[in-house]
Amino acid sequence: MSQSLATVAYLGAAILFILSLGGLSNPETSRRGNLFGMVGMALAVLATIFGPRVSAGGVAWIVVALVIGGGIGLYAAKVVKMTQMPELVALMHSLVGLAACLVGFASYVDTSIQLQGAEKVIHEVEIYVGILIGAVTFAGSLIAFGKLNGKIGGKPLLLPARHWLNLAALLLVVWLGRVFIHADTVGAGMLPLLVMTVIALAFGVHMVMAIGGADMPVVVSMLNSYSGWAAAATGFMLSNDLLIVTGALVGSSGAILSYIMCQAMNRNFISVIAGGFGSGAPAKKGGDAAAAEPQGEVTPISATETAELLREAKSVVIVPGYGMAVAQAQHTVNEITRTLRDKGVNVRFAIHPVAGRMPGHMNVLLAEARVPYDIVMEMDEVNEDFPETDVAMVIGANDIVNPAAQDDPASPIAGMPVLEVWKARQSIVMKRSMASGYAGVDNPLFYKENNRMLFGDAKKMLDEVLTALKA
Ligand code: TAP
Repeated sequence: MSQSLATVAYLGAAILFILSLGGLSNPETSRRGNLFGMVGMALAVLATIFGPRVSAGGVAWIVVALVIGGGIGLYAAKVVKMTQMPELVALMHSLVGLAACLVGFASYVDTSIQLQGAEKVIHEVEIYVGILIGAVTFAGSLIAFGKLNGKIGGKPLLLPARHWLNLAALLLVVWLGRVFIHADTVGAGMLPLLVMTVIALAFGVHMVMAIGGADMPVVVSMLNSYSGWAAAATGFMLSNDLLIVTGALVGSSGAILSYIMCQAMNRNFISVIAGGFGSGAPAKKGGDAAAAEPQGEVTPISATETAELLREAKSVVIVPGYGMAVAQAQHTVNEITRTLRDKGVNVRFAIHPVAGRMPGHMNVLLAEARVPYDIVMEMDEVNEDFPETDVAMVIGANDIVNPAAQDDPASPIAGMPVLEVWKARQSIVMKRSMASGYAGVDNPLFYKENNRMLFGDAKKMLDEVLTALKA
């Protein structure tokens, strides 16, 4: 393939990626968006393999790598459960970071790249920055993976003088960068490069370890953004325009998503970028202590009584959370919704931006169950409707409906906007026990007078509610 044909293919792929991102912004166009993304990626991979920079002998190696990588990807896609998706995404981000590091070291020791003067300096800066971002992304994403799948505890690790440590690391990295650029030989430059890599890895670990469980959504989207910048840096090292464009698209869309997440969690965007977030002093006070002290009596309700309340209601708001994903109850939820709507009940869904374990988690599940998009509302659209709602049905959600976020300044989730289900005439919380949610805090909603607890697995309970509704 000639250089100009490869460039045209790259341009086509870049346009498809932009269309893909545009499509993914809305559930109705998201399938098309995915398709654009897949076609764009296929075009990009083919144009790279058959492009002018890969020799005939190299193609065989690439095919072997594709078969191995594609095989692992296919296997993972088949066995990974929907609830494990966030961990998988974190793991994939770490691979992008690792790739940036490996490409950086490979470019540095590649003797076929003979550059002089300014070009040499620019190339070395690309290598240095690429490895730096890559190592932070790699280590940070691995820790995020551990925190998301529960292998690493959710408590933030707060080292004494952690901000000074970070500042010292930054200054050291800048100084090492200077030494690296001024090194005359590859041998002399390798030591500062390796030391910087170790510092960047430690920084990545420290940054994510210092973040409390309640702030993980912001971390996931931040690492998404970092992985984009790591890919862009790889693009600079390899002089690959498409990788630069794609990396920048992922990096900037991840940054926008982080900003939206920060707003949803009421966190400061600047402190997030600086990595000093989720460790706010009051945050942990409420945590375990609050979780250990029950705040009163709860009133249980049966599935039959729940069905009765729903049947009598004129307006119902359903709040899905992580438990709905665990129970895979979305199809039964859709059946109940259809049954109620057939009876003339006004049913809507209230989606919190950080419900579940990944951005858009609930929207994906509801779309899969074919819940009509026009009754799926964002938090801001629906919150003021709760006082006019007869029944607010909370399915496996906890933190996102916790009034402590508004009432208790010492709570780890203080300030986080929540769905105000307690303002409905009746709220029903469906979960298996009194266990706390992801943030590990007790939920005063459970003890409110107008709240009832429907204990049990969400799918099993909803099946019973559906049977009772149809009876
Ligand atoms: P959570 O606060 O985690 O609460 C989920 C509840 O579901 C649990 O209290 C659990 O109680 C219940 N549950 C689990 N399995 C169930 C089942 N089979 N049937 C019925 N109930 C079940 O979830 P949420 O309200 O969706 O809030 C999300 C939390 O995750 C927030 O703290 C958020 O910050 C965090 N987070 C979000 C993201 C993103 S990007 N969305 C990423 C990382 C972390 P039982 O054990 O008693 O059943």
